[in-house]
Amino acid sequence: MEELRTFEASEKFKAEALVRDRSMYEAAAADRLAFWAEQASGLDWVEPWSEVLDWSDAPFARWFVDGKLNVSANCLDRHVANGLGDRVAYYFEGEPGDKRTITYAELFAEVQQAANALKDLGVKKGDRIAIYMPMIPELPVAMLACARIGAAHSVVFGGFSAASLSDRIIDAEAQVLITADGGYRRGAPSMLKGIVDDALQSTPTITDVLVVQRIGDAAEPVNMQEGRDHWWHDVVPGFSASCPPEVMDAEDLLYLLYTSGTTGKPKGIMHTTGGYLTQAAFTHKYVFDLHPETDIYWCAADIGWVTGHSYIVYGPLANGCTSLIYEGTPDTPTEERRTGDRAAWAKDRFWEIIANYGVTKLYTAPTAIRTFMKWGTQWPQGQDLSSLKVLGSVGEPINPEAWVWYHTYIGGGRCPIVDTWWQTETGAMMIAPLPAVTTLKPGSASGTLPGISAELVDDAGQPVGVPGGGYLTITEPWPSMLRGIWGDPQRYKDTYWSRFPGRYFAGDGAKFDADGDIWLLGRVDDVMNISGHRLSTTEIESALVDHPAVAEAAVVGRDDATTGQAISAFVILRGGVTASPELQAELRNHVATLISPIAKPADLAMVPELPKTRSGKIMRRLLRDMAEGRSIGDTTTLADPSIVPIIEEALNG
Ligand code: WT7
Repeated sequence: MEELRTFEASEKFKAEALVRDRSMYEAAAADRLAFWAEQASGLDWVEPWSEVLDWSDAPFARWFVDGKLNVSANCLDRHVANGLGDRVAYYFEGEPGDKRTITYAELFAEVQQAANALKDLGVKKGDRIAIYMPMIPELPVAMLACARIGAAHSVVFGGFSAASLSDRIIDAEAQVLITADGGYRRGAPSMLKGIVDDALQSTPTITDVLVVQRIGDAAEPVNMQEGRDHWWHDVVPGFSASCPPEVMDAEDLLYLLYTSGTTGKPKGIMHTTGGYLTQAAFTHKYVFDLHPETDIYWCAADIGWVTGHSYIVYGPLANGCTSLIYEGTPDTPTEERRTGDRAAWAKDRFWEIIANYGVTKLYTAPTAIRTFMKWGTQWPQGQDLSSLKVLGSVGEPINPEAWVWYHTYIGGGRCPIVDTWWQTETGAMMIAPLPAVTTLKPGSASGTLPGISAELVDDAGQPVGVPGGGYLTITEPWPSMLRGIWGDPQRYKDTYWSRFPGRYFAGDGAKFDADGDIWLLGRVDDVMNISGHRLSTTEIESALVDHPAVAEAAVVGRDDATTGQAISAFVILRGGVTASPELQAELRNHVATLISPIAKPADLAMVPELPKTRSGKIMRRLLRDMAEGRSIGDTTTLADPSIVPIIEEALNG
């Protein structure tokens, strides 16, 4: 593939962009708090704040102190009041091909009905509501209904097990659960209610369950427990479509979102109201260069993750934008296009959706991009993708090869790619380009957004120079930062604020290149030390994926008596390429050539699949266990545990 070192948006793109120069960066640098106050003033406040930031109880921040507002009113009421009721809020495309169009006025009405239904079940301000749903429009409706009455939601990704769901319900002491009979996944119904029933065996706090009917009679009968379970369609439409928004303090809890830490117990990350919405809306608007009158924006993440919370629900709705929600997987055609067995199905659903709806902004993850690369360019090339203007990436470092592929085959060589670094804990984007301003480099997330301050530090906590590598830390509080871990303030301090006193430690390694641009290197536990040389798994994976025979790669550092750690590589070959000892040697040498002989993998296995979590993250811990010859422990979080013996055979055979 042609080499691409830097990319700048076209003159036309720049001329139409919201931000065309660096003045916003300069304003934020000159007075950070005034800058964030200006962003917050774009929201509707019931009462103004008295102080932008109270950091006196650090690391517990209070933003927009004494300010009062309601998130759902900012996402709905004000747009309808401004005459935008007929604008589409969501286009919904179900996996089978069913479609719904929901305007702001319709969403506004349904949210108020659902809010009244929750009130009728006894839900009050400050309560917690668990949500366990497929990607259907009732999911954002449920979240906004909670926000409207001041209840905090805790969305649990619909791919989680009964045990994971009940753990999260128990920790949050949720009173009500909102769920569905099931959703469509990989061309078939995937039932949820049975999992819910299992989970609720051990959750005494749940009094009522609202169940959306997505599947209906098509599948197994659904057990509805008398007095506890209520069909959404029996209850919600009967309520008045008028429910005044609860007046919330800027620091009232908006939601909990559980994420895994280093211990087995998931952390309930707490996000509050005013600061969270300010930064979610700000970043969504400027990083995607949003033009809400004309854009059709699609974030292809699941709402069960923070990406969906901030960039399918709260950011886009606060900005009055038209979004797309797609229920299913990228390799499932609509029912009418399904021919032959599953293996023969067309793999162009994403590109078909973009062509049909005229999507202008697309936000997806590197793991998806590498899967598309593996499937081949014929799929995007068969669809008209000329509506696209900006492409986003999130969730892991995007290797330059995937960046260039995304840019070339999806973006038609014309779209800026915004690589956005952030975390469940940060609530919104932190490091990302502004597409008309930043000179983009494939593989670099560029620099901090206006109003965000980051530094890379060494082991002793000393800032490193440019160029240089170190631990990524955030040096000043930011509006959408987590306010703590639910029920465990000490764990919040220990996890994020103790490794480098006075700094938020993100857990990621990064480097500055000679221009001071930031390159994320992955979690520090993925950084290897080979003979005293610091090497990132990501850099080596990038080098492997750079080879034309390789579709996807994962690298781990395994213990080695001589060198400390040695590199074990696992690669998936592209379609049509055959594994051979010659190719194995060639791939190892390729890394040596691209990075350095010290980076040459000690061993390299060609495997049919990599162990991934349901959210698509490669489970390097499992690969490390395999590479070190240990028996594999818990594989329940794997999307597909059956691949473990297959990988082991490839490794040993
Ligand atoms: C971790 C956070 C952000 C929402 C989805 C993931 C990694 C995230 C990038 C990026 C390199 C990235 C980091 C971070 N990460 N975005 N653009 N480049 N790494 O949220 O599950 O909380 O994971 O994802 O390692 O710490 P999460």
